[in-house]
Amino acid sequence: MLREHMARILITGASGLLGINLALEAKREHDVIGVDRGKLKSAPFRVLHANLLRVGSVNAILDSTRPAWLVNCAALANLEECEKRPDDARILNAEVPAEMAEACAKRNIKFVHLSTDAVFDGTKEGAYTEADEPNPQGVYSQTKLDGERAVLQVNPQAIVARVNFYGWSLGGRRSLGEFFVNNLSEGKNVNGFTDVIFCPMWVNHLAQALIAMLEKDLRGLYHVVGAQAMNKYQFGVEVARKFGLRENLIEPQSVERSGLTAKRSHNLWLSVHKLSTDLGREIPSFSTGLDGFYTQFQQGYPQKIRSYQQ
Ligand SMILES: NC(=O)c1ccc[n+]([C@@H]2O[C@H](COP(=O)([O-])OP(=O)(O)OC[C@H]3O[C@@H](n4cnc5c(N)ncnc54)[C@H](OP(=O)(O)O)[C@@H]3O)[C@@H](O)[C@H]2O)c1
Repeated sequence: MLREHMARILITGASGLLGINLALEAKREHDVIGVDRGKLKSAPFRVLHANLLRVGSVNAILDSTRPAWLVNCAALANLEECEKRPDDARILNAEVPAEMAEACAKRNIKFVHLSTDAVFDGTKEGAYTEADEPNPQGVYSQTKLDGERAVLQVNPQAIVARVNFYGWSLGGRRSLGEFFVNNLSEGKNVNGFTDVIFCPMWVNHLAQALIAMLEKDLRGLYHVVGAQAMNKYQFGVEVARKFGLRENLIEPQSVERSGLTAKRSHNLWLSVHKLSTDLGREIPSFSTGLDGFYTQFQQGYPQKIRSYQQ
């Protein structure tokens, strides 16, 4: 039976790290339809297959599904890939979101678009607020910034959420949390960057925050990240301790010596003050999120979601 407040929520990028976890979180209370490119074979929610790069796909999906909410989790989100495929990055990260925002405005569908903490150049001391000026450092962050601006220009009622999160993914290798668990479990040495500060949020906390923002009808730009800033090395150490793995396999290192092509900002500490004020509640602590990530591991959640692609 449909609950009174139940809404139909369409989630693009449903096979991605955020998309799959958001879909599972949202389906507790809402009617979920996921959109993917064909990876999801047996997910416990309805799935449509579509290539968003195909002209006309956005309007066709919205007309056939008629959702109340659209959350766009589709993106070219790999920084190195974006440097290699700048045209695809521009289309998927900026042009398609703008098209979605316009299509949603016309149909009175509430739209949520995901952006990134990486729009900032990292030169600020302290936390960035929504009022701070972005200064993207590469193709990924530039196309994401272009996307967030285009979305809000054509659809000021939309929510644009700048995020950073970790969790269990379909392929088992998408998030930084998985990177540390996988490698340390196999006894491998890994680097942990000491000069990249970020605010990692457990993906389920992110999903819950996005749903609460929709239910509260928030609009505009928000930082939706974890409440605690730390460097990537510290994050790895926290993960290792929680999972009982060897933290001394993590080598503290500078990102400048990583050999990665795409430039990384050193400070991606984002303030969540606006979010917690407008939601009227505290953002969950880092340790609560890490507990959730570990509990999922103990309960076989990683294997469960991987089975959706068989
Ligand atoms: N992960 C993070 O910490 C992080 C940090 C900052 C911002 N973000 C943002 O958060 C959002 C979600 O990120 P994520 O980590 O969940 O990304 P992800 O795991 O890479 O997932 C991307 C999704 O987009 C889909 N997609 C790619 N090209 C497509 C196309 N042409 N047509 C239809 N779907 C297509 C992918 O499908 P396939 O599975 O078929 O490839 C996948 O489902 C993105 O906007 C990203 O920029 C993420």
